This record gives sequence, structure tokens and C-alpha cells, in this order.
Amino acid sequence: MNLELEGKVALVTGGSRGLGRAIALRLAEEGCGLGICARGEEALHEVAEEVRGMGRPVYHQALDVTEAQGAGAFVEQAAQELGGIDILVNNVGGNRRVAFAESSDRDWQEILEVNFHSHVRVSRAVVPHLRQRPAGVILFIASIFGREAGGPGLSIYNTTKSALISLAKIMALELAPEGIRVNSIAPGSIRFPGGSWDRRCREDPEGMAEFIRANLPLGRFGTAEELADVVAFLASPRASLVTGACLNIDGGQSHSLI
Ligand SMILES: NC(=O)c1ccc[n+]([C@@H]2O[C@H](COP(=O)([O-])OP(=O)(O)OC[C@H]3O[C@@H](n4cnc5c(N)ncnc54)[C@H](OP(=O)(O)O)[C@@H]3O)[C@@H](O)[C@H]2O)c1
Repeated sequence: MNLELEGKVALVTGGSRGLGRAIALRLAEEGCGLGICARGEEALHEVAEEVRGMGRPVYHQALDVTEAQGAGAFVEQAAQELGGIDILVNNVGGNRRVAFAESSDRDWQEILEVNFHSHVRVSRAVVPHLRQRPAGVILFIASIFGREAGGPGLSIYNTTKSALISLAKIMALELAPEGIRVNSIAPGSIRFPGGSWDRRCREDPEGMAEFIRANLPLGRFGTAEELADVVAFLASPRASLVTGACLNIDGGQSHSLI
């Protein structure tokens, strides 16, 4: 299938490693120009070089998306450098495991800022640019733990991911008349070198083998490339009827019927 992404421009927040890196490289392979940001300059620069090596235009900026003005400036600068924006992938995210009764305002504020408010700000800054394109797309990387309970210690993470899924649905309704599609994605446990699952597998191989047996029906973790393939499809005009959806990419890991 030709995804018809050639010549489009995509922004990927947190595009320097893990899922964001895989998504950026997959979109570049399909012909997109890329705008990427993350806090660390070195890894970001390496991804930018890979994209450039594929012959695609790229703009990269080291910044913290929780700094409101920085996020807006990234969007404007990327649009200027790349000649507009067709696709936004809101990928940045973090976690803080803490029992609800022990959690502080600061815990909540920091994770709400990185997992939710930053996505709101970047998306709001991107919408005027998408309005100038025939078929704009916004995607939010949520989690299966936004659709169902992740378990004790995950109240902050679960809340922020559920909020993203709600936000995507309402944005989809508001922006549909303008031909802009908005969807969220719910990954299950995805392992990549240097990621949190990779670290846990190396630290506790027996425990993780038991985790896989009990939780992952395919008998393995997902890969960042498998996730990026689905993201590329959802970002493409071939997914023109898909808006307001939340798609699991989890190898059957989640239990929710909806
Ligand atoms: N991996 C999984 O199994 C899994 C499962 C479900 C959902 N998810 C979601 O998928 C997304 C990506 O996960 P991942 O595992 O790839 O995470 P990751 O390895 O921690 O990568 C996060 C990316 O975001 C950047 N970043 C983090 N905080 C930032 C900030 N304040 N400002 C700018 N950039 C920032 C990081 O670079 P810097 O550190 O240099 O800033 C990095 O590029 C997250 O939203 C996560 O919740 C992942």
C-alpha cells in the first residue's frame, strides 16, 4: 500500500529515542520532512542526521516541552523551516510510580505537565498550520493504561493517559468539519534498547519472563518498529475514515472490551 506520505511534514515530540525515534524514522522513510524535539541535544542530532541521510528535510530543536514558550516557538520555527505542518505526533511522556496517598502536588503537577499540558499546548499551536493543509492529522501516544486500570502506584500516569484519550476524541469532533483527523494510540509494553522494559529485563530476567508469561499473549514485548508502522498508517491519508479513535497496539495485552 502506498501511504501517500511523500512530501508531507510531520512533527514528532520526543523524537530522539524509543518510540518517538522509531516513528520519526518510519515517517521519513515514507517521504515526510521531520520536525523533532527533545531535551537532550546529542541523541536528537543523531536522529536528525539519520533523517537527513534519507534525503528528507529535518528541523531539530533541543527543548523542554513543559516550557510553554519553548513548545510554541518549536512549532513556529519548524513550520517556517519545513514549509508548513501536516502531521503532529504528540509522543513525549513520563511516569512516576507512587502510592496515591503518598503523592504530592508536585508529583501530580510535573507528570500532568509532561504527559498532558505540553500536548495541549503543542497541539493548539499546530492547529492553525493544519488548517492550511488539505488533511491535517494529530496523534497522541497514550497507553493501554489510559483505557483500563494499570494498577496500584499508577494513579498519576493512568489519569494523564485517560485524559489524552478524552482530549483526542473531543478534538476529533471539533476539527472534523475542517478535515483534520485526531486519534490516540494505546501501546502495550514495548521494548527497545535503552528503554525501561529493556532495563527491567536485564535487571530481573526471571521476573520479566514471568511478566511475559502472565501478561503478553504473543509471548514477547512489542517493538518500536511495529508501533511506528501503525502510527505511519494512522498519519497517512489511507486512514481517512479513522478519527476520534483510540487504537491498541499491544499484542493482545489489554483486557478492556472497548
Ligand atoms: N515504551 C512503552 O512500553 C510504552 C508503553 C505505553 C505508552 N508509552 C508512551 O509512549 C511514549 C514514548 O515512550 P518511550 O518509552 O519511547 O519513552 P522514552 O524512551 O522515555 O523517550 C521519551 C522521549 O521524549 C523526550 N522527552 C521526555 N521528556 C521531555 C520533555 N520534558 N521535553 C522534551 N522532550 C522530552 C525524551 O528525550 P529527552 O529525555 O532527551 O528529553 C525522549 O526522546 C510516552 O508517551 C510513553 O508514555 C510507552
